[in-house]
Amino acid sequence: MSKIRARLIVLNFSICLFLISFFSDAQQIIVPPYLQPGNASTLTKEQKVLIWQTDSIPGKYKVEFALGSFGQKVSVAKTTFVKLNLNNKTTFLYRASLTGLKFDSEYSYRVSLNEQTITEGSFSTRSKKQQTKFAVFGDCGAGTPQQAEIAYQVFQQKPQFVLVTGDNVYRSGLESEYRKNFFPYYSSKEASPLTGAPLMQSVPFYMLLGNHDVYGSDFDKTPDGLAYFYYNDLPLNGPSTELTVTVEGSEGKVKAFKSNSGSRFPKMSNFSFDQGNVHIVCLDANPYTNPLDPTLVQWLSEDLRNSKADWKIVSYHHPGFNSSKAHYDYQQMRLLSPVLEQLGVDLVLTGHVHNYQRTLPLTFDPQKNSTGTQYLISNEGRVDGKFMLDEKFDGITNTKPKGIIYIVTGAGGAPLYDPTLSGKPELWKHDPQQNWVPFTAKIISDKHSFTMIETIGKRLVLKQYDAKGIILDEITVTK
Ligand SMILES: [Fe+2]
Repeated sequence: MSKIRARLIVLNFSICLFLISFFSDAQQIIVPPYLQPGNASTLTKEQKVLIWQTDSIPGKYKVEFALGSFGQKVSVAKTTFVKLNLNNKTTFLYRASLTGLKFDSEYSYRVSLNEQTITEGSFSTRSKKQQTKFAVFGDCGAGTPQQAEIAYQVFQQKPQFVLVTGDNVYRSGLESEYRKNFFPYYSSKEASPLTGAPLMQSVPFYMLLGNHDVYGSDFDKTPDGLAYFYYNDLPLNGPSTELTVTVEGSEGKVKAFKSNSGSRFPKMSNFSFDQGNVHIVCLDANPYTNPLDPTLVQWLSEDLRNSKADWKIVSYHHPGFNSSKAHYDYQQMRLLSPVLEQLGVDLVLTGHVHNYQRTLPLTFDPQKNSTGTQYLISNEGRVDGKFMLDEKFDGITNTKPKGIIYIVTGAGGAPLYDPTLSGKPELWKHDPQQNWVPFTAKIISDKHSFTMIETIGKRLVLKQYDAKGIILDEITVTK
């Protein structure tokens, strides 16, 4: 073989390798397109956002959507991307905004790369009807078999949306952890108790910040931390409070994070939205926050007063009322109870403690100092105060609660806490000196579980399901 011919063969081989690598890289989707609620809070404007992530090389993507099925009128979504350089690896994170949507409607969408359809799906827009149905769980992204079972059971329930009450991924809220412990379960190709379900392709997830979600805030130690602000696209109607997670690390890394998360950081730490006849407020309850921060309380008061929804629900990660052994002392969020009671909140949904707990309807008046000017909080985080418990409410024959019902639904996938407490109220007791009264009506701590909430007009039904789809607890609330 002549030298020139040998060189040509080598050259051709190199071109082939380059082309193979170009096309395979361009088409390597590492997070398939999933639906997000977008910056739409009240029932005046509706949108959705599709997000996906690819490896190494940007592709020519197009997102089309249509009311009903694809017919004559097809809209093209505006698509943008950011280049992420995390852990010495480059990826591209795409966002397509599906705007101008009608409420109470079904839409189809398709994502194409170089004119080839790579994903097709459909979704329902938010409803203006006086009813809703949604799923709630927290403490989930741990990569356990139970997480897959719960994802599958939630899919069977056909919720309009999913609310995740924090600790979305373990252990530190990293981009790499979402890819390993979150998307494979809720964006699974097949629906199966072994793998999860294709939930996120059609059902928007609203998530909030737990403690684990903010552990990766030093970008020198964890360059892909705070991925919450990359992967979510939620309403940006929260307060401009300064009490948010502090980012650390070299100037370049902090700058890149802020640039890539755009207006979502830190705005997306607190937000609210409407769906049907339910108004939900999601709050960051991490120790760097203050539930009585005047900026937060003012926003919360206006937000809840402006809502005409039949049902007002608040969700945050760290429960104020918890009878488990784990995390008993962190009671900071009790300070917010009088405000929530005054604003007509019906239900509080939390996580953090890896089991299910439901309180009696209650009101709580936190203790103040001797001059009555300041609430007291102990070094351990305990908040003393006066309880009023509605012991007559049973959610079956008496369905009109006097006070707020507080739910812990933190059994979404991570290993359970205090499994021996199930069905044994005598073990739920804490020292009254530690400001405990028997406010807990139910604990299920030996099974993973999730919550389904359905409202029709002024009737709300809450059901707690286990990972096999069996109902563990059920109450009806009416007004
Ligand atoms: Fe937690």
